[in-house]
Amino acid sequence: MCGIVGYVGPRNAAPVLLEGLRRLEYRGYDSAGIALLDGGVHVVRRVGPVANLAEAVDPQTAGLTGIGHTRWATHGGVTEDNAHPHVDSTNRIAVVHNGIIENYAAIRALLEEEGVHFRSQTDTEVLPHLIRKFYRGDPLEAVRAALQPVQGTYGIAVTFADHPGVIIAARNGSPLVVGKGQGETFLASDPTALAGHTRQVMYLEDREIMRITAEGWELFRLDGATISHALEELAEELTWSDKGAFQHHMLKEIHEQPESLRRCLSGRVVAEEGGARLGGFDLSTRDIANISRVGILGCGTSFHAGLVGAAAMEQLARIPAFAEIASEFRYRNPVIDPDALFLAVSQSGETADTLGAVREVQVKGGRVMGVVNVVGSSIARACGRGVYVHSGPEIAVASTKAFTSQVAALLVASLMFGRTRLIGADEGRRFGKELLGVPELVARYVDNPGPIDRAVDMVAGGKYVFFFGRGVSHAVAMEGALKLKEVAYIPCMSYPAAEMKHGPIALIDANTPVVAIVPDDVMRDKTLSNVQEVKARGARTIIVHSEGDEASAALADVSIPVPRTRSSLISPLLTVLPLQLIAYHAGLALGRNIDRPRNLAKSVTVE
Ligand code: F6R
Repeated sequence: MCGIVGYVGPRNAAPVLLEGLRRLEYRGYDSAGIALLDGGVHVVRRVGPVANLAEAVDPQTAGLTGIGHTRWATHGGVTEDNAHPHVDSTNRIAVVHNGIIENYAAIRALLEEEGVHFRSQTDTEVLPHLIRKFYRGDPLEAVRAALQPVQGTYGIAVTFADHPGVIIAARNGSPLVVGKGQGETFLASDPTALAGHTRQVMYLEDREIMRITAEGWELFRLDGATISHALEELAEELTWSDKGAFQHHMLKEIHEQPESLRRCLSGRVVAEEGGARLGGFDLSTRDIANISRVGILGCGTSFHAGLVGAAAMEQLARIPAFAEIASEFRYRNPVIDPDALFLAVSQSGETADTLGAVREVQVKGGRVMGVVNVVGSSIARACGRGVYVHSGPEIAVASTKAFTSQVAALLVASLMFGRTRLIGADEGRRFGKELLGVPELVARYVDNPGPIDRAVDMVAGGKYVFFFGRGVSHAVAMEGALKLKEVAYIPCMSYPAAEMKHGPIALIDANTPVVAIVPDDVMRDKTLSNVQEVKARGARTIIVHSEGDEASAALADVSIPVPRTRSSLISPLLTVLPLQLIAYHAGLALGRNIDRPRNLAKSVTVE
């Protein structure tokens, strides 16, 4: 979603800002802009990619201080006027903003009554005008005063023509990180933009404001007190990742799964003990024995991983467990049992709804831990404890390797809890050994993925596509349908297979493509009956099944075998792979913007 960059130092700021914005492109955006201090405030904005903006920036423009932004439209259409930075009516103050000012309409009405003329439809534009209203020569005090009446979420960066070597930044609910260089300072909403410049960083917390100069920064609470946070070392894995030999990040990330899974599992599954260790949970065996239930919270793909995790918690550890969409959880006034353990699952660690759900658990005195990919992200820090999934940077908007690592991390947690509470060493060893063997199986499958092209021909020609499965394979069906919608823009529905006959089967007619996920587990025969039911109505079927399962293959128009797993809980790590590839190749065949699908953002930092 929206991205912020800022620079103060001896270099010409424009190329530094443009490079930072390019690194934030993966988050999804529709326009971009920069403001440079070159005596006045020099603003350039363009609709479309950062490349459009780069073409419009005069390379001769000097300016050693600047701020930049990629905008993902919320309030007001995708136009140059609505792109950031926004300036006050004297063109002396420029602001970039991530988040949403919820009471902007009331503030705008008041400012208009005072004679202020607005030039955009955005919520953000109230900020430069408010700051101008409170400006008496001290930039920090002006921003602090302007933020007092503001409700909502923000990460902002502000420059003043009168103060050429200064950026003021403030945060409430939308991340900001500053990086310390040699006589220069960088600011960004996402540490990815800092990679290559510095690894010495500091994250702002909510309700904090800072004055940034080339020499460093001063940090304050919005209510006045001076504070400081220690510098942190940016993790190696945050360094920028390019596409290498692959045509798209998505394909590269699909192929990285053997390695990302190895990283997630290594050192955590303790084969000889038949158990697992997740030090970041910091739970004693007694703590684990006393967990009353597990609630797994997340959005989109992370929610789907949570569904598999909840099934594993019940089956391996016999702890009552559920997964819930974080955006719903946070607003339903949930009952929080103090002995429950909540897990917040998020690739980016910045998803506003998941962060809101974390806060809801915490406000009610509950215990919540992160299952997060991005080290140092807001959710990881808000939870304080948890497990990093270590899938490495995921750049494509459609999540692939993060899903399998999230599932793997939740399986490890379930094994750890199960071994403590219920299962014996032999069963633990069998499960742990099988889990450790998964990266090898994933590598074997992605090297030889079967007739994906025939599956693509079938789904790309359909009006809509059904995905179904049962148990954990229903979560995989949901994930496969989400991928195909996102990447190929093909309407898809996903159902627990047995639910088809309770209504959705009315939509099946001759040639409707149906993708069935049928690993060879206890539900296989029942799912195959559901396949027969749709076939009897003319559907064409793509069946993802275990290698050697001839009965499933015989029912399929397109049969896609994947390596067999003994435990059905582990099967999603294999059955999801062909669905990722079908979505990728269907998107390619239909000429879609694979890594950055329309309307989507990688990091969903607004509600
Ligand atoms: C789907 C996808 C989204 C994210 C969702 C949560 O491919 O990427 O559905 O899974 O926006 O994002 P995180 O995991 O960053 O919290």
